[in-house]
Amino acid sequence: MTGTGPDPAFLAVRGVTKRFGGLVAVDDATLDVAEGSITGLIGPNGAGKTTLFAVVAGFEKPTAGIVMLEGEEITGRRPHDLARMGLARTFQIVQPFAGLSVRENIAVGAFLRTAKRAEALAAAEEVAARVGLTEQLDKPAAALTVAGRKRLEVARALATRPKLLLLDEVLAGLNPSEVRDIVPVVQAIRASGVTVLMIEHVMQAVMNLCDRVHVLAQGRIIASGTPAEVVAAPEVVEAYLGKGAARRLQGAADA
Ligand SMILES: Nc1ncnc2c1ncn2[C@@H]1O[C@H](COP(=O)(O)OP(=O)(O)OP(=O)(O)O)[C@@H](O)[C@H]1O
Ligand SMILES: [Mg+2]
Repeated sequence: MTGTGPDPAFLAVRGVTKRFGGLVAVDDATLDVAEGSITGLIGPNGAGKTTLFAVVAGFEKPTAGIVMLEGEEITGRRPHDLARMGLARTFQIVQPFAGLSVRENIAVGAFLRTAKRAEALAAAEEVAARVGLTEQLDKPAAALTVAGRKRLEVARALATRPKLLLLDEVLAGLNPSEVRDIVPVVQAIRASGVTVLMIEHVMQAVMNLCDRVHVLAQGRIIASGTPAEVVAAPEVVEAYLGKGAARRLQGAADA
């Protein structure tokens, strides 16, 4: 353990900046994720959410700042090493191996923990049940609907047996009933002992699922709190709707 105080957050992001040339995609971001929580990361398109995930999961090196998992600094470690430590992410652009079955796609994740094919395939079956893909196990991944592919992406990540799962817009592109169906899947993942950090635009799901939410706008964390607190914060309303929007909305409500 290193000196982060008496109660280091499960995941601690401290002053992370990521530049791409002249563009500051993430700008001095600091946030905590409590162990056992479902924490949301929201913000307008291009705010830097996926980039922040990429830094946390080791796909991008930060220009500045550090990332700590359970009090241990993990900044700049490679994705594979972080996966072994229990950190898994899903990708916003879902790209399953189209020629493989659903079972085999999930097994790809399970191979992190075993070299035995039979064990990986058995693990895949267990994970499929957790995300509601049992019926689809023997289908080619290419045959899945968008909602099915999102479940497969979660399953592949879960098969690595993470303690921290980063979900990047797993509800995007789903219809309202598909969203309602996935909410309990995420709740069950947390109940099984996995801490969840989720990027999400579907606010209904954020309100239902998240204990706490961090809001990123133009690379900066502009608000953190409960879902109800952040949606009521004027700076959050303005980040989504433009400067003066909070006042205009209040005016409309008062009229
Ligand atoms: N590899 C890269 N090289 C250059 N610029 C990048 C790279 N990755 C992201 N960016 C830029 O960084 C900014 C933040 O992008 P990012 O994908 O992190 O946003 P986001 O919050 O995930 O957006 P969305 O909600 O649309 O997914 C954008 O301006 C994007 O174009
Ligand atoms: Mg993104």
